[in-house]
Amino acid sequence: MAPDSSDRNREVYRRLARYYDAYVSDFVQDLPIYLDSVSQDTVNRVLEIGCGTGRVLQALLNAGSLATGVDISEDMLEIARHKLRAFLDRGQLSLQNHNFIDSPLPEQFERVFVTFYTFNYLLTTSEAKRFLQNLNHSMSERAVLIMDLFFPAALANPQTAGEWNKRSLGRGENTVWLSDRRTMDGRVEKREQVFEKNSLRSEIVTYRRFYSRAEIIAMLKEAGFHKIMVANAYDKKAFQEMDASEEPKTGFMIKACQ
Ligand SMILES: C[S@@+](CC[C@H](N)C(=O)[O-])C[C@H]1O[C@@H](n2cnc3c(N)ncnc32)[C@H](O)[C@@H]1O
Repeated sequence: MAPDSSDRNREVYRRLARYYDAYVSDFVQDLPIYLDSVSQDTVNRVLEIGCGTGRVLQALLNAGSLATGVDISEDMLEIARHKLRAFLDRGQLSLQNHNFIDSPLPEQFERVFVTFYTFNYLLTTSEAKRFLQNLNHSMSERAVLIMDLFFPAALANPQTAGEWNKRSLGRGENTVWLSDRRTMDGRVEKREQVFEKNSLRSEIVTYRRFYSRAEIIAMLKEAGFHKIMVANAYDKKAFQEMDASEEPKTGFMIKACQ
């Protein structure tokens, strides 16, 4: 495995970018948590890490946030630039190719969102720790961090590991067919996807690391975060302090303060 996951992830998203909006066309369940978090008057500067093609940014910008989106994939950022051009032109949005594994940003943010499993793309704990430390340095005092983490399907239901599934994504002329299967190698999930659109066919393999609640909580504390809470669903009312020994087999959201 490469010492840094980012080169591999850039290549994954170089190939995935053209299908990505069809892939998330029905996914909106996470948005209320982020929108609720920026609804106070005191929130000025919001950062999304792993902003991709701008799905979450668009909702935040429509709600009036002053937002910065960062990603390591130029192909994903290019789509976001195109879709969110009006917000860029009026100075409400900044989009940057930046990697928190390497360095912090010079600005300080009041809200930071690491959305839709972006953190799981960091395949080693040394990358994860550097990422969180650099992130902590880019947050203002008492700023709030929210992260969305996955629980691999092949761990939740081991009998489904290695099984191919096929489904359609998007609608009408934008319909894409996706076949995928997932297997685990220790804590790392290998996801094989085959996208088909008209005569186009792409086979893409993605690796994502499972971080348990206990692991994340320990790393956040080490990076200087406080008041760490967990929610086992996309439910803003569900955040609670947790006993790190509880590990339900579900994805989860983490909220922490600088
Ligand atoms: C599943 S997509 C999420 C896109 C968008 N946030 C959404 O919710 O639709 C994950 C994104 O994380 C990006 N990514 C992977 N590693 C990253 C890193 N170290 N820093 C920033 N972005 C990263 C990928 O390029 C990709 O755009």
